[in-house]
Amino acid sequence: MHKITIAIDGYSSTGKSTVAKQLADYLGYVYVDSGAMYRAVTLYAIQNDIISKNNFNIEKLKEILPSINLRFEKKSDWKKAHVFLNGKDVENEIRNLEVSEFVSPIATIHEVRVKLVAQQQQMGLEKGVVMDGRDIGTVVFPKAELKIFMNASANERAQRRYQELLDRGEVVEFKNVLKNIEERDHIDTTREDSPLIKAADAIEIDNSEMNLEDQFHVVLQLAKDRIAGRI
Ligand code: DC
Repeated sequence: MHKITIAIDGYSSTGKSTVAKQLADYLGYVYVDSGAMYRAVTLYAIQNDIISKNNFNIEKLKEILPSINLRFEKKSDWKKAHVFLNGKDVENEIRNLEVSEFVSPIATIHEVRVKLVAQQQQMGLEKGVVMDGRDIGTVVFPKAELKIFMNASANERAQRRYQELLDRGEVVEFKNVLKNIEERDHIDTTREDSPLIKAADAIEIDNSEMNLEDQFHVVLQLAKDRIAGRI
């Protein structure tokens, strides 16, 4: 069957990865979590004293970029592909609040974006891919047949993220989670290189009041229409 490229962009914690994964599973497509790649670079930067509360050594980051190798691997009993940083599975580590705190500044760096975008485009060469992120419909796959832009209120997103972190056993305060979401929204939408914006041909979905099932049906119908060439 005719394969398409599906780009899902939107604010942090809007449930992009949930719907992207559901779609990919249903359609037999590859799911790529582009945020995981920015998070893995951030983890590397933290581990190598490139970024901390009082320090961001951009020159050193640019220097060490070639020594960062990222790849995805999926085992049959994993729900999704894990990201590997220089051969080590870091899927769990990249989700902590420390990485979340520093990932947006790291993602403003042009050289980081050039490296990751090139790898993402490579992964989408054969279509049949669902990728989520911030610049997928605008920069990575500007010709994607289906572009979705996801949104929800900051409070609702913080609630979801807070619950996720609690479920993972992290000790966090709601107000810090909300603050992190608002700071990331600000940096992601105002950065110079590839800011988060809705592509002109993207379809916006606000899921503040939507359950996962309804949302999936809406997006799946859109995907089926595009695959069949109906719209
Ligand atoms: O989707 P996420 O929350 O895991 O993404 C983490 C950060 O990475 C996000 O705050 C901005 C950045 N990002 C980006 O700049 N471009 C992408 N395509 C994906 C993520």
